[in-house]
Amino acid sequence: MAGLFFNACPNYRAVVVLALSIFMLLSGSPSPATADSAQYDVVSLGAKADGKTDSSKAFLSAWASACGSTSAATMYVPQGRFLVRSASFDGPCKNSAITVRIDGTLVAPSDYNVNGDSGYWIVLRHVTGVSVIGGTLDGQGTGLWACKLSGKSCPSGATSLEISNSQNILVSELSSLNSQMFHMVINGCQNVKMQGVMVSASGTSPNTDGIHISASTGVTILNSKIGTGDDCVSIGPGSNNLWIENVACGPGHGISIGSLGKDQQEDGVQNVTVKTVTFTGTQNGVRIKSWARPSNGFARNILFQHAIMNNVQNPIIIDQNYCPDSGCSTKDSGVRVSDVTYQDIHGTSATEVAVKFDCSSKYPCTGITMQDVKLTYGDQVATASCANAGGTASGTEQPSSCL
Ligand SMILES: *[C@@H]1O[C@H](CO)[C@@H](O)[C@H](O)[C@H]1NC(C)=O
Repeated sequence: MAGLFFNACPNYRAVVVLALSIFMLLSGSPSPATADSAQYDVVSLGAKADGKTDSSKAFLSAWASACGSTSAATMYVPQGRFLVRSASFDGPCKNSAITVRIDGTLVAPSDYNVNGDSGYWIVLRHVTGVSVIGGTLDGQGTGLWACKLSGKSCPSGATSLEISNSQNILVSELSSLNSQMFHMVINGCQNVKMQGVMVSASGTSPNTDGIHISASTGVTILNSKIGTGDDCVSIGPGSNNLWIENVACGPGHGISIGSLGKDQQEDGVQNVTVKTVTFTGTQNGVRIKSWARPSNGFARNILFQHAIMNNVQNPIIIDQNYCPDSGCSTKDSGVRVSDVTYQDIHGTSATEVAVKFDCSSKYPCTGITMQDVKLTYGDQVATASCANAGGTASGTEQPSSCL
């Protein structure tokens, strides 16, 4: 057979080489989205990379095409600065393989009254299977921060990127600068992966949380660097199965579960892993906080593992009397905190009390496990303070455990 084939086709070498190249092209192509799918370039649709022409329409039109495509599609943002107003990229879409590839920077209007109280700047809603790769979001928040810090009445501001009611989302290598308010919010989502994200805003900027997660399941944050004026990552009610690994935080308020227990009827938080994180100069390291009000909320099965604290004010803290301003209720918090493990946490505290468990007297914290915790406070002795907290400590205990 082989001889027959070769004889019948003297040019078999060329045939084999051609077949091989086609095979390699198909199987080895870097991303099916770029090789096979339609690509919608915002510049071909009228966007101007000059940082001042409103390019919102071109962005929305690229999205509409990608979302309306019946097969995988790419929305492409080339290099340059593109002014985009508050815009929502909504689904449901006709395919579940949309790539938003960004080489350039999206710039928010510098006049904060433009996005004003709309709540968000860029929002993805009701989508499945969207990957946002690369790029920078420049929220131009400094004007609004100054307004808020001056005590004048100002708009509440916009979250730079909100992803809501969506599934199977990847955000990779995206930078977010100077958001007016929260940098990124994940709300009501399943299966979201964020990796190589960079968030940067001044340590004095108000309400500029890095990544806020609420009512979501299966959120992973990997290999990211977050410096802001508020929480690095904050985790609200209804969040389950979260994995946060290899994140550097600072400046800011650290990684926080909460605030919980604001409402009487509230979903809990469970199964959260925070591992290999570094906090530098932050207000808190790993924190769980709840309001002191009646609530059916809870936080359970939480693991904080391999954390390094560099000059952190409250490296380890559970605060169930959270009261950011005066005049809060001081009723016992209804939030049940249980099964929280701190494993291999070390470094330096900027205050004497390096470990603080201030739990609800009505529902004491249970199942707190401390294993190999070593926190120092200059050349003085760091201390631990417990109220209504139960559990066990083993391995290195510095400060000595108060459980
Ligand atoms: C906890 O969350 C992780 C993801 O972070 C998941 O793989 C695991 O299955 C979850 N465990 C339970 C018991 O749901």
